Amino acid sequence: MKPNDLDPVLHGARRARLAQAMQGGVTVIPTAPERIRNRDTHYPYRFDSHFYYLTGFPEPGAVLVIVAGAQPKSLLFCREKNEERETWDGFRFGPQGARERFGFDESYPIAELDTRIAELLGDQPALYYPVGADAAWDARAMSWLNAVRARARSGTGAPERVHDVRALIDEMRLVKDAHELGVMRRAASISAGAHRRAIRAARPGGFEFELEAELLHEFRRNGAEFPAYWPIVAGGANACVLHYVSNDAALRAGELVLIDAGCELAGYASDITRTFPVSERFTPAQREVYEIVLAAQAAAMDKVRAGNAWNEPHDAAVRVLARGMLDLKLVSGSLDEVLEKETYKRFYMHRTGHWLGLDVHDAGDYKRAGKWRTLTRGMVLTVEPGLYIRAADDVPHALRGIGVRIEDDVLVTEGACEVITAAAPKSVADIEALKREVTRNAG
Ligand code: GLY
Ligand code: MN
Ligand code: MN
Repeated sequence: MKPNDLDPVLHGARRARLAQAMQGGVTVIPTAPERIRNRDTHYPYRFDSHFYYLTGFPEPGAVLVIVAGAQPKSLLFCREKNEERETWDGFRFGPQGARERFGFDESYPIAELDTRIAELLGDQPALYYPVGADAAWDARAMSWLNAVRARARSGTGAPERVHDVRALIDEMRLVKDAHELGVMRRAASISAGAHRRAIRAARPGGFEFELEAELLHEFRRNGAEFPAYWPIVAGGANACVLHYVSNDAALRAGELVLIDAGCELAGYASDITRTFPVSERFTPAQREVYEIVLAAQAAAMDKVRAGNAWNEPHDAAVRVLARGMLDLKLVSGSLDEVLEKETYKRFYMHRTGHWLGLDVHDAGDYKRAGKWRTLTRGMVLTVEPGLYIRAADDVPHALRGIGVRIEDDVLVTEGACEVITAAAPKSVADIEALKREVTRNAG
């Protein structure tokens, strides 16, 4: 079953909140354009996240306009109905259908955008739009302002201020509402199922792309529209390449596989990493590294709670990882030295998480006025420590080429965080049990 993302009340309430935050003025938010992949073939269409958050409207060629003020109103500009185009490319709501179904106050054909906006901007204090996001829209925004200024002699005032509307929407998107959490839990559960499926399917002599196929199959058969980002399926030392996506190598007995994959469902991303043996068991060296990363993740998750600062989970993870690196003889000196000189960064070079929502690296500041921001209830983030030991002469033999990351998606609450991806197996015992089950069933 797919979540119902066409909820005009929900999106209308978000538009009303944005109108209030604007304190006057007009905002213009275009959705994403269609993009050509080659000649006359397009990439799969994906709407703009800010536009979609405020409309739920899935078609390309659409622009949302909100006029703030005592009685705010929302206007949608979209493609007109067109029997021929709909015969070739599929259904279009058209302005009237869109207004009725999505709850806009007014709606117009997209061709009327420029003239109507130039009208709407008269005597308004400010124009809000995604400033700098797209050069063509920047030029168009200037043309609207100039069109209003051209009417100055007839007494019409032009906006004196231009703002990036994304700053206001980002803040709203940072704290998820009940509808969003429902969709995100479902996306997380589909992705957890996909990881279980891939863990079961991994076998010596198989290929990374076979596991990629298992993931994509599980996403799509559960109604997810897309992978939220291209899956990373990295066998052996490929796991030490952070953004490995070629996924074309053979899987070998005795090696680990790192899979970083999550689906996008009704616009919302999930983001899970699991690292597990190709065959039945972790080697002692792999297990040692794995347990350190798992402990780092537990320490970080323990710091994910309302009232804590954004960097507390990262700092907690780094401490555990650095101590582990000392135990493994990957770095030398005291723990304080390793932390202070940041020698741990050779083996752990990324941050421990990011906001998660409509975008996999979701909207929202991490610092405000120079200070890490405070976690509050309803924020969703990832917790994803790792250890990446590239082969080198000064690295113990048994550890060379081991790469481990463990990533879950968590919801901030007043107490312990809710791990919405918990259904993906994670402890050594659970992973090895799943692999044993596969061998038993095959035998
Ligand atoms: N899969 C992207 C990330 O983990 O940030
Ligand atoms: Mn992530
Ligand atoms: Mn990830």
